Amino acid sequence: MISDTNKETKVYFSVCVAVMKRNFKLIIIIIIVGTVVILSISATNYQKQSTLLREEIFDKCEMIALELKYTRDYLAETIAIANLQHHEEARGLIPAIAGNAIGKKFYDATGYQLRQVSSKYRNPKNKPDKFEKEALLEFGKDGNLSGYKGVDKINGQKVLRYLIPLYIEEACLKCHSAKETIPEFIQEDYPEDKATDYTFGDLRGAISVVVPIDRAEAEIKGNLIHMTLVTTAGLTFLVTFIAIAINITIKKTEKSKLRS
Ligand code: HEC
Repeated sequence: MISDTNKETKVYFSVCVAVMKRNFKLIIIIIIVGTVVILSISATNYQKQSTLLREEIFDKCEMIALELKYTRDYLAETIAIANLQHHEEARGLIPAIAGNAIGKKFYDATGYQLRQVSSKYRNPKNKPDKFEKEALLEFGKDGNLSGYKGVDKINGQKVLRYLIPLYIEEACLKCHSAKETIPEFIQEDYPEDKATDYTFGDLRGAISVVVPIDRAEAEIKGNLIHMTLVTTAGLTFLVTFIAIAINITIKKTEKSKLRS
C-alpha cells in the first residue's frame, strides 16, 4: 500500500519535472518579469513609506518644538511678572537654562535632541552648526517662515532636523536688551555675551530638534525585502503550479481525443 503510494508520487513527480523541462523557458520568463514588477512595486512602496515616516517625524518635531517654545514663553512671563530676573536663585527658571534641562531629560527618554541656538549666542554651547546657521538665515530673510526642515548627517548618522524661530517678546527684554540693563549676575556669568541689544520683535534664535532616522529606515527596508522575497517565492510556486496544471489538462484532452 505504502509502496504503491510512493510509486504514484514518484510518477507524478517525474511528470512534473518533464512538464517543467518542456516549459522551462516560459516559466523562467514569467518569473523574471514577475520579479521585476514586484521589485519596482517594492521600490515605490519604500519611497512612499519613508516619505510618510519623515512627514510624521517632522510633524512630531514641530509639536515638540512648539511645546518647548510655549514652556519658555511661560517661564519668561512668570519671571517678568514676579520680577525674578534679578535673582540669581531663579537661574534654573531662565527659559534657555530650563529648556536645556528639559531637553536633556527628553533626549534620555525619547532620543529626540532639543537645543536652543542663536548666531548671537550668550553661551558658546548654543552656537549654531552649519544646518542651524542656514535655518537662522532663512528665518532672518522671511519673517513668516514657521519652520525649517531637512535631512542631515551627524557623526555619520542620518538625522532629520527641524527648527522653529524664536522672536523677542516683552518678557525677553529683561535679559536681552542693552548690556547695562540686564541682571548683573548674567553679565558676570557670560563675559563674552553676544545676546544683548535686542528690541521687541527681533529674531533671537531658534529651537532645534534632531532625530536619528537610520534605524527606522532600516526597519522599513528590512520589511520590504522580506515582503519581496515572500512574494517572489509565492509567484514562482504559483506559475509552476499553473504550468503543470495546464500541461496535465492538455495531455488529458489529447489522450481522450486519441481514444475517440
Ligand atoms: C531671566 C533672564 C532671561 C530671560 C527673561 C530670557 N533669557 Fe534668553 N537667555 C538667558 C540666559 C542666561 C541665557 C544663556 C543660557 C545658557 O547658559 O545656556 C539665555 C539664552 C537664550 C538663548 C540660547 C542662545 C544663547 O544666546 O545662548 C535663546 C535662543 C534665548 N535666550 C532666547 C530668549 C527668548 C526668546 C526669551 C523670551 C521669551 C528669553 N530668552 C528670555 C537669560 C534670559
